[in-house]
Amino acid sequence: MKTQVCIIGGGPSGLLLSQLLHRKGIESIVVERQSCDHVLGRIRAGVLERGLVDLLREAGCGVRMDREGEVHHGFYISHNDAIERVDLEAHSGGGTVMVYGQTEVTRDLYDARAAMGGVILHNVQDVALHDLKSQSPHVTFQMDGEDQRIDCDFVVGADGFHGVSRPSIPEPDRREFEKVYPFGWLGVLSETPPVSPELIYGTHERGFCLCSMRSQVLSRYYIQVPLSDKPEDWSDEAFWAELKKRLPASVSDKLVTGPSIEKSIAPLRSFVCETMRYGNLFLVGDAAHIVPPTGAKGLNTAASDVHYLYHGLSDHYLNGDSAGIDEYAEKALARVWKAERFSWWMTKLLHSFPESGAFDARMQQADFEYLFSSDAAQASLAENYVGLPY
Ligand code: FAD
Ligand code: PHB
Repeated sequence: MKTQVCIIGGGPSGLLLSQLLHRKGIESIVVERQSCDHVLGRIRAGVLERGLVDLLREAGCGVRMDREGEVHHGFYISHNDAIERVDLEAHSGGGTVMVYGQTEVTRDLYDARAAMGGVILHNVQDVALHDLKSQSPHVTFQMDGEDQRIDCDFVVGADGFHGVSRPSIPEPDRREFEKVYPFGWLGVLSETPPVSPELIYGTHERGFCLCSMRSQVLSRYYIQVPLSDKPEDWSDEAFWAELKKRLPASVSDKLVTGPSIEKSIAPLRSFVCETMRYGNLFLVGDAAHIVPPTGAKGLNTAASDVHYLYHGLSDHYLNGDSAGIDEYAEKALARVWKAERFSWWMTKLLHSFPESGAFDARMQQADFEYLFSSDAAQASLAENYVGLPY
């Protein structure tokens, strides 16, 4: 097989890039290790920044999002029994976010790819990247028990944190920065009305919690748990009881509980790979960087990578101008590090750290008091939450 851009990974990053390129007449093939059903079964992000919303519209995938997604103008932070609202719109010059699940984004992208006749190869195995420093790289893999090869101009590694693309960059050419947090998030999806019209990020001595949603009949809740916990350790009853303890009474009194339809634990990690380009390989999204979910920045940062690479590849193919692809890693990383900083700061502000002492507790309290007494501090939170410019 032959194509212009071979994209490893059919998650949101790979599908969005493939869709945008196709609309500019640039060919790509996506190779994905899992089945379509498996990819669509993963419950992850829920909050989309303006930049991603605009890219989805540009990709021709915004119709259902605009119909079914909810525009949010603010969110709440609770601290024990107190609760304060962050007015995103007022503090960011009119910014908002869109609440629309990653599962729905991915479904819309798959539908759009199918409608345009996009090529996505599922259930591939043993993907390997070759000759990345040459003008004619190629990708090999197994499909239906047969060896396959794709020759291309560029390879895009959009295969997530555990993919094969990042390790294909030899160690002397990549530097990795990592922080692993001593807890995870236990998430529950339930067919119940959300407890609040806007998200609530809750802090409590017992640990962090988050009340989020996918629609007016589908809620997504999280609680901070030790890394040693397993989803099976938590019955639905135990989950709801713990969530209630971490919310102000005015909120927990209104919480509607019900059976969980999904329950999983996500560990929290900050990670950045420098560089995001090696020869004719470009890394995009979780393949290059991970943030803890606290600031809702993972998918959104993947989207800004896609934006820079899409424009770089379009300029290369349509105008013979390679400046965009040459600047890709630098531009993408500059924005990635800001999203890392924000996610790390929000994680530090809102979670209970097992190793922290009395001094750290006072610092966290001072951080809150400063945040809600300063317009400048709320403006900083709001401009990062709605998304820094591309
Ligand atoms: P992935 O979604 O990981 O996709 C990579 C794809 O590559 C997968 O389909 C995988 O099967 C495939 N693959 C892997 N290895 C190979 C291989 N060797 N060969 C071929 N294919 C391969 N982000 C936000 O912006 N907002 C939020 O509110 C938010 N909430 C989150 C909540 C939770 C609990 C979690 C866990 C994450 C959250 N995120 C959020 C982060 C977001 O989900 C990720 O950043 C996003 O999925 C990254 O997309 P991606 O396409 O880069 O990677
Ligand atoms: C979610 O709805 O899954 C969600 C929302 C906000 C976050 C993280 C996850 O910060």
